[in-house]
Amino acid sequence: MVDKVINIQNIAKSVSTGRRSEKLEILHGVSLAANVGEFLSIVGPSGSGKSTLLHCMSGLSKPTSGSVNILGIDPYKLRPAKSAVFRRTKVGFIFQSYNLLPALTAFDNIVLPLRLSRKKVDKAKIYQLLKSINFDANPDSFVSSLSGGERQKVAIARVLVSNCKVIFADEPTGALDSVSGKIIFGLLRDLTKQGVCVVMVTHDIEMAARTDRAITLRDGKLRKILNKPNAQELFEALSDEEK
Ligand SMILES: Nc1ncnc2c1ncn2[C@@H]1O[C@H](COP(=O)(O)OP(=O)(O)O)[C@@H](O)[C@H]1O
Ligand SMILES: [Mg+2]
Repeated sequence: MVDKVINIQNIAKSVSTGRRSEKLEILHGVSLAANVGEFLSIVGPSGSGKSTLLHCMSGLSKPTSGSVNILGIDPYKLRPAKSAVFRRTKVGFIFQSYNLLPALTAFDNIVLPLRLSRKKVDKAKIYQLLKSINFDANPDSFVSSLSGGERQKVAIARVLVSNCKVIFADEPTGALDSVSGKIIFGLLRDLTKQGVCVVMVTHDIEMAARTDRAITLRDGKLRKILNKPNAQELFEALSDEEK
């Protein structure tokens, strides 16, 4: 039997729109499973619910209904202290908005989860990693002084050093030049070869075509699942959605 790292069943997510008791349903019954070492991509138009799906399936935002299981655990049933440890040690997130602490330096942001878990910080290794992803700024500079692309690399490095088993990435290469994007993709691919499961939202069809499975999302519903997708197939699946 192949181990399921992620298993979500029939997830729906509604949010209050602020107007009286009106609710907006963003996700309508999405089911999906992913295996050890699998590289999954989620593609779809803006506003189709990709970020919401990633937040729900990663334990960050509780779905209105449906079930979520990551590494055999329902993250929404964990007590707060266990939930914090789970997020710090088992799952990694690369957010669209980076989620860095502006008052800390790039280096301190990267090692924060390690320090909180009382793990050893290998400074030379982290400097080497930053070099390998073409991070040209000083690691001791505050993130508030960095460009969008540099911040993105700090957010990526933070996940790469964390040794987690599942990585959720929301357009991780969106703010990067194409060379850096390819390097990051290569590092994520290397992690999947070591058994890490990566779920990546992307607008980049070429990149999605190099993942193991692509999922297209439209209006909060899962539309197509393409195994070993190629760019043409993906392009057609997404163009069909435009009609
Ligand atoms: N907290 C929220 N309150 C109201 N609407 C939201 C909220 N979060 C997302 N939405 C809406 O839900 C839809 C899907 O959003 P999102 O998941 O961010 O899409 P994507 O990542 O595919 O662009 C969008 O129309 C967005 O405006
Ligand atoms: Mg989004």
